[in-house]
Amino acid sequence: MLFDTHAHYDDEQFDQDRDALLAQMPENGVSLIVNAGSNLESSKRSLTLTDAYPFIYAAAGVHPHDAKDMDDKTLSELEQLLRHPKAVALGEIGLDYHYDHSPREVQKQRFREQLALSISAGKPVIIHEREAAADTLEILREYPAARGVFHCFSGSWETAKLLLDKGWYLSFAGVITYKNARKSHEVITRMPRERILIETDCPYLAPVPMRGRRNSSLNLRYTADKLAELLGITFREAAALTMENGKRLFGL
Ligand code: NI
Repeated sequence: MLFDTHAHYDDEQFDQDRDALLAQMPENGVSLIVNAGSNLESSKRSLTLTDAYPFIYAAAGVHPHDAKDMDDKTLSELEQLLRHPKAVALGEIGLDYHYDHSPREVQKQRFREQLALSISAGKPVIIHEREAAADTLEILREYPAARGVFHCFSGSWETAKLLLDKGWYLSFAGVITYKNARKSHEVITRMPRERILIETDCPYLAPVPMRGRRNSSLNLRYTADKLAELLGITFREAAALTMENGKRLFGL
């Protein structure tokens, strides 16, 4: 059975068939999903999904894209949402200098505030980092008690090593099935296995052979397959490994 540690079923791309799709998950080998929040509204929708589906858990947080819309009330609302029994993490939060949808100083401020909240709430964080590794690492040094996962990790082994030494988990999406994913393949084969997670980030990042289509957790098996190949283990072993790792991180 597979654990999809990062999905976005609150996305409007699932509006037409969300329930039909989610109902198929258990019979297709997907037994756990963490739905990540992107802003306050999406975090609330994530928690609503957890009420409807026993196998869905949620993360609540504000993505760097939406950092500009946060105010001090948002933080206290997030704090409330994190009290939900199925809220297992704060996320996704971080820095994105590729799109720069929010000013960088605002991204950094909101990232710091949410890291502090994760520590006081005793929950792990799900980190989104794009073209902002140096600033992300610098901010994390201010919060040594923060823990969690770098989602859709695509950095170098050098960056991975710094994070792994501090106890972070790294999560890999369908991108590892793409031909140009050599850097990620190197990280996967060198890192401690007990820190590897897999995810879809659906509706985005569909793995080969579904690349370019809307993604869902039904495609997570292609990513697990690739992981098994890279580690020289069976599909079942890769599924069991990433299930156990995900449960440990999210306290399930
Ligand atoms: Ni995401």
